[in-house]
Amino acid sequence: MLALLLAAAAIPGAIPGSTSAPPPVLTPPPVLTPVFTKDVAPILYRRCATCHHEGEVAPFPLLTYEDARKRARLIADVTASRRMPPWKPVEGYNHFAGSRRLSDAEIQTLRRWAAAGAPQGNPALLPKAPAFPDDWQLGTPDLVVQLPESFDVPADGGDLYECFIVPMDVPRDRFIRAVEFRPSNRRVVHHALLFTDSAQSRHEPRYPCFGSVGLLPTEGLGGWSPGMAPIRLPEGAAVPLAARSKLVAQVHYHPDGRPERDQWTVGLYFTDRPPVRRVVDVGVASKRIDIPPGEAHYVVREHFTTPIAVDAIGIIPHAHLLCREMRGWAILPGGKKQWLLNLRDWDFNWQDQFQYAQPIRLPADSRIEMEFVYDNSAANPRNPNSPPERVTWGAGTKDEMAGLHVQAIPVHMEELPELGKALWGAVMRSVGGSFYRPEK
Ligand code: HEC
Repeated sequence: MLALLLAAAAIPGAIPGSTSAPPPVLTPPPVLTPVFTKDVAPILYRRCATCHHEGEVAPFPLLTYEDARKRARLIADVTASRRMPPWKPVEGYNHFAGSRRLSDAEIQTLRRWAAAGAPQGNPALLPKAPAFPDDWQLGTPDLVVQLPESFDVPADGGDLYECFIVPMDVPRDRFIRAVEFRPSNRRVVHHALLFTDSAQSRHEPRYPCFGSVGLLPTEGLGGWSPGMAPIRLPEGAAVPLAARSKLVAQVHYHPDGRPERDQWTVGLYFTDRPPVRRVVDVGVASKRIDIPPGEAHYVVREHFTTPIAVDAIGIIPHAHLLCREMRGWAILPGGKKQWLLNLRDWDFNWQDQFQYAQPIRLPADSRIEMEFVYDNSAANPRNPNSPPERVTWGAGTKDEMAGLHVQAIPVHMEELPELGKALWGAVMRSVGGSFYRPEK
């Protein structure tokens, strides 16, 4: 121990105050090497195991000492570069519920542990491993909708974006207060978006869909990605469900090297209380996208001014493969800038829906602005074209989109029609509106 302390003292700045201030009276805390059982396991259990356990989306479990020891260096690297856990919003702009982001201290612990040769530590100090019960997280649903036939995911090839339309057999109108999506095969599902359709659109029960579900859904129910909690609508903001509606699900499958199949289920939780509030999709979107081949910094901007006061509860950014950065903010009537999202290194394969830890109040006449940056150069490893080609707006894999969707609750419910009119106006001017635009 003494040697360790002396070694630490020899490093300039290793002991706070050791350079200029008078020598500290108290003994400085010893620099201890992190060990698996006491220091590393709690991080892996809390931050990694949701995806890194048997049968889940990640390629190997990270639960036991053996799991972690043989990958210690890799763990240190992918956390230092923040490739893992997948979480794209830049720190310091907004607080999101369910953030996967590691603290700097956690990253340091993993790095120092790997550098010290991944010591195990006292097995008696190992905390209890997390359990992942396979039950519905909110109790027995009022309705379970299952994909009638399982979907085959080939061993390899590109990612698959498949839309499913499943009858729900709801005999009377209901109100949805919560939804849980459960893949039967979690190894291959990266995300799912859920909608309802009461218009009885005539559509195949299943079809490939990449950037758009290809129909105008009646309601959006929200999304799912690995490790995320079930969707709960805010108190009083249940989503109406008309009798005989259908469930629309867009599911993103990522082949994992062997043939897989999935037959997902969706649990719906109803309430008889009609909503007194509504969550509105305030979409700030642009179709003016025309990116020349080779252009490494192509910027798309759009804005929408909300005529009524709203509380933003979440945000859903949408673009395809070329997008690199997504920023959104509101200029409040007094001129103050309120950030809504700042995301770097956008990865279509890790798209999420972000919920704010606290709602953000946007007074009437707040101007919501979005700014997306695209890289259509050969240097962008996610460029689907080699060599790069001109890319324009569209729903296909090789087209691009630009949409920032603020999930907003009107502060005064009676003002909702005014917001609806303004959003519709934006759609009519063809500069904004819903990205779930029917495909042509
Ligand atoms: C939301 C799910 C999720 C979480 C949380 C997560 N991972 Fe991963 N991890 C994956 C997936 C999926 C892969 C496979 C590669 C890919 O798709 O990016 C992966 C791959 C990895 C790899 C292999 C990278 C390579 O280059 O082969 C390491 C190491 C890793 N994760 C470590 C971690 C650590 C450490 C944590 C927690 C601090 C963590 N992951 C949290 C999903 C997750």
